[in-house]
Amino acid sequence: MQTKHVLKAQDVYRTIALGPRELHVLRGISLAVAEGEWVALTGPSGSGKSTLLGVLGCIDRPTRGRVCLDGVEVSALAEGRLARLRNEKIGIVFQSFHLIPTMTAQENVEAPLYIGPRRRQAQALARAMLERVGLGGRLHHLPHQLSGGEQQRVAIARALVGGPRLLLADEPTGNLDSTSGMQVLMLIRELRVQLGLTVVMVTHDPGVAASADRRLHLVDGRLAAPDVAAPAGLAGARRGLDLRPAAGEA
Ligand SMILES: Nc1ncnc2c1ncn2[C@@H]1O[C@H](COP(=O)(O)OP(=O)(O)OP(=O)(O)O)[C@@H](O)[C@H]1O
Ligand SMILES: [Mg+2]
Repeated sequence: MQTKHVLKAQDVYRTIALGPRELHVLRGISLAVAEGEWVALTGPSGSGKSTLLGVLGCIDRPTRGRVCLDGVEVSALAEGRLARLRNEKIGIVFQSFHLIPTMTAQENVEAPLYIGPRRRQAQALARAMLERVGLGGRLHHLPHQLSGGEQQRVAIARALVGGPRLLLADEPTGNLDSTSGMQVLMLIRELRVQLGLTVVMVTHDPGVAASADRRLHLVDGRLAAPDVAAPAGLAGARRGLDLRPAAGEA
């Protein structure tokens, strides 16, 4: 059976102009992520992990090279089309939650649905997604009234409420204590299986990276090892769904 690639990057460069100088942040990245795969992206600070995630998540454009999302080359799309595609296909979670401070948990999760065909169902969908992440009792809390772990769960609900199949996460446990961090990771694992997600996660935690189907290691804007697809895939995760922490993850 042919592998379906949800995400592909071909010789991607990202160069940032800093006055007269150019900073070569990504230098020729090629990779392919199969449907249902769970990929950990590791590398030293400053190696370009967040930049790569931004390019893969269609937030930033590559300076050179191609990015394909579900078979569509996104590098050439106009801004409006790109925004719609991103909204529909990708959920993104950051280290520092990025919730809107004046909106309740429920409103934060509804917000991405306000533009789009499901705005009439926004309330019901947001509530269902918050219940799914265990926050049915926190719908009307503002972000500052929630713990860090709860705020990240709101951010995850917001990322997934539109039904994307691809979740990109940039150190989602980086601002959390180890217990809340572990809960967030278990939640992502559980949602991955339930919703059939493909996950690319930046992490500094070797235990988390070890539990991924595949690890990509970035050094100085380049992948340190060739991208070899050998995914256990979602079927493996379903068979092995075990919500206890993996070895080294506690
Ligand atoms: N908009 C920008 N302007 C200037 N420099 C930038 C910009 N974005 C990224 N950089 C630089 O590019 C390099 C890679 O940044 P990036 O945030 O991708 O690293 P990272 O691997 O995510 O690091 P960390 O593990 O610390 O989060 C860094 O040296 C950073 O300073
Ligand atoms: Mg980063």
